[in-house]
Amino acid sequence: MLSPTLRRRLFFSSLILVLVLGTIGHVTLNAWSILYGLMIGVFLTDSLPWDLARNAAGMLPRAVEAPDAKTSTYGHEYGLDHALLNIPPCETFWLNMGYWKNTRSFVEACKALAKLVIDAADVKDGSRVMDFGYGCGDQDVFFLECHPNITITGVTSEPKQALIAYSRIKARNLHKSITLYAGDAVNPSTWRHIPSHVSPPTDVLDPATYDAVISLDSCYHYSTRWQWLNQSASLLRLGGRISGTDLILGSGYDDAGYLTQFLLRAALYFTSAPWDNFVSEHAYRKRLQEAGFVGITVEDISEHVLPGLAGFIEQHRQNIGGVVDVDRKWRQYEGAAKLFRWLYRKKLVKFVLFSGTRS
Ligand SMILES: C[S@@+](CC[C@H](N)C(=O)[O-])C[C@H]1O[C@@H](n2cnc3c(N)ncnc32)[C@H](O)[C@@H]1O
Repeated sequence: MLSPTLRRRLFFSSLILVLVLGTIGHVTLNAWSILYGLMIGVFLTDSLPWDLARNAAGMLPRAVEAPDAKTSTYGHEYGLDHALLNIPPCETFWLNMGYWKNTRSFVEACKALAKLVIDAADVKDGSRVMDFGYGCGDQDVFFLECHPNITITGVTSEPKQALIAYSRIKARNLHKSITLYAGDAVNPSTWRHIPSHVSPPTDVLDPATYDAVISLDSCYHYSTRWQWLNQSASLLRLGGRISGTDLILGSGYDDAGYLTQFLLRAALYFTSAPWDNFVSEHAYRKRLQEAGFVGITVEDISEHVLPGLAGFIEQHRQNIGGVVDVDRKWRQYEGAAKLFRWLYRKKLVKFVLFSGTRS
């Protein structure tokens, strides 16, 4: 007996195959066209088009069902949506993969990962820190709690997040120690001060200005990370530190079949992580070295990151019951949880903590 998932995949694969062949008319049915049809089908049935089809199907009128004492509602149905009214405003907006070794709390796991990065940067009183990909700024508040006498210049790509970061930093009166910009990490001409939106003064980019450059769960997005390493090396004084968490290729990649490799590339593409950034640990260390860093460490911490986050997402949905559903964008997190489990099980990527000293 075929499982419902397999039946669903086969159904969509055949449908797509027929559509593809129908569209290009004169193509004859051969083993390659069948294989392509199946591959596209497998890919699509676990992704957005499938979700759209399911949502659309959910909107169609249903057949009248026999009343069921356990589920029937009489009169107006309030459901559980009012739980949303009971949720207090978010005090934090962390969004990294977390370090789950000693906690099951999302916020604590995010902080634990941030702590690994700031510790590896070896900052001291008076250090000038450049922080790339600061998100909604929780990490900068946290870094200042750990080291009240440092100054931070941050660059992150989403102005919406940067504005939240600014308002929260201002509310804590930390805006004299933290200067925020929104823009692309590797393209300083896009940087705009938050909240004034003016370009940064040129000294922000003066060579050898910073004692530390960090990036918490962000630099695999940069196009490219190699360009960012060179830029960071230029911004750092001699002896300055670079540290961050990152994704690189895992030991399972070379042994994976073509389909798995193709699916990995597709998943990275859809999460805006350029394929050029994905290399083996050996090549990664070499790139750090070529950019001008010595004393390089690259520690694989995947086991305390990927399964922990996947488990948290799965559990969180159960914990908050009816409050999250497809319409409230929960599906993206469920998809992420599946992706993390798959990446970890097949050892396709490694989540690493890296650091080095500018020489
Ligand atoms: C996974 S989130 C991590 C956010 C934050 N570091 C945290 O721990 O909560 C990745 C962050 O990287 C930022 N980012 C992605 N691409 C970027 C780029 N090219 N330049 C600067 N920031 C970028 C995103 O806006 C996002 O805030």
